[in-house]
Amino acid sequence: MKNLLVTGGCGFIGSNFIHYLFAEPNFKGRVINVDKLTYAGNIENLTDLAEQNQDRYIFSQTDICDRDALDRLFEDHAIDAVCHFAAESHVDRSILGPDDFVKTNILGTFNLLEIFRKRVDQVLLFHHVSTDEVYGSLGETGLFTEETPYDPSSPYSASKASSDHLVRAYHRTYGLPTTLSNCSNNYGPYQFPEKLIPLMVLNARAGKPLPVYGQGLNVRDWLYVEDHCRAVWTIMQKGRKGQTYNIGGQCEMKNIDVVAMICDILDILEPVKGSGPRKDQITYVQDRPGHDLRYAIDFSKISRELGWQPAETFESGLKKTIEWYIENTDWTDRVQSGAYRQWIDTQYENSG
Ligand code: NAD
Ligand code: DAU
Repeated sequence: MKNLLVTGGCGFIGSNFIHYLFAEPNFKGRVINVDKLTYAGNIENLTDLAEQNQDRYIFSQTDICDRDALDRLFEDHAIDAVCHFAAESHVDRSILGPDDFVKTNILGTFNLLEIFRKRVDQVLLFHHVSTDEVYGSLGETGLFTEETPYDPSSPYSASKASSDHLVRAYHRTYGLPTTLSNCSNNYGPYQFPEKLIPLMVLNARAGKPLPVYGQGLNVRDWLYVEDHCRAVWTIMQKGRKGQTYNIGGQCEMKNIDVVAMICDILDILEPVKGSGPRKDQITYVQDRPGHDLRYAIDFSKISRELGWQPAETFESGLKKTIEWYIENTDWTDRVQSGAYRQWIDTQYENSG
């Protein structure tokens, strides 16, 4: 992997992945980061890294739906591996407006695969980053395995399911060397504050309501983002071609318990004199339509075959994450302006 194309490298997981790679002694190649810079992409996430690695890091503001532009990038930079993160990633946005999800997640992935098919002698690996949401919802018991049938509930998860099917089909039909991973909920630095954890941290600090959907009893499995990055890099190096690997944190939590933990940690880190506990800010709002009840992951395959398992505990990872948001108010102020504000206002209108 001399010239690795990373798509969506200015997003939450993509930028953490690029930071992770440049700290990895066994990665000696170049990264070509291709990102459209939607509301969710921040070029600033990698400013320092770009300055320190001018010979090994290239950024291109490109839409993965623009096949000609992508084709030129593959040519100009002799791309020999791809790690594909770029996507529209937020379930609530997909419910309000699915168009961009179908375009980027399905057609964008299709474009990349078509270019890959044309250059199969040049490209050694295509790793597709996907989600556990493709499996739909679990009841009170059970775990998603790699054999669980796909049953997506939202336009977001349906679009990711579609892209997963395309990746598998290109492996089976054209023999392209692909790998695929389906991961649970990530948290950590640089996550856009529309997602549960950063939204609650910022609202709790600002004395604003903490909008919990329904009764807060839905369960998610949480994984610290660096653990996800290490899993992706492990699969890229050692994973069997044509295979899918589930990635999870072995950390099932009810949403209400996550929000309560955030409040408790903030009450200790930043006590507010003369006011009650931040849990008093919790407000139950209208539920998400088609809200999956529970996600839980069986990650025994990646553990058995590739020796990966999560390293961070939820308690330590959540505290580190909250501290990062406290220390990076320039970043949060910047991403909370403009389009972000409009989105949050729409959310509150919709949740009544
Ligand atoms: P994100 O929304 O934070 O970042 C997405 C990035 O993709 C942004 O930088 C954005 O500018 C870019 N992008 C969007 N449309 C594009 C286009 N048409 N062309 C080029 N770039 C485009 O997302 P994330 O949370 O970092 O997720 C990254 C990937 O991981 C996604 O594929 C997502 O489905 C998957 N995933 C996310 C989670 C999670 O908990 N966040 C869990 C499992 C899997
Ligand atoms: O499971 C992996 C998926 O995790 C990824 O594929 C998605 O890209 C990522 O966005 C995430 O999806 P979720 O829908 O689970 O994440 P979100 O942070 O939006 O919500 C987490 C849970 O919290 C979910 O049950 C809905 C609930 N929630 C969310 C928000 C934003 C609330 O109760 N209140 C909120 O304000």
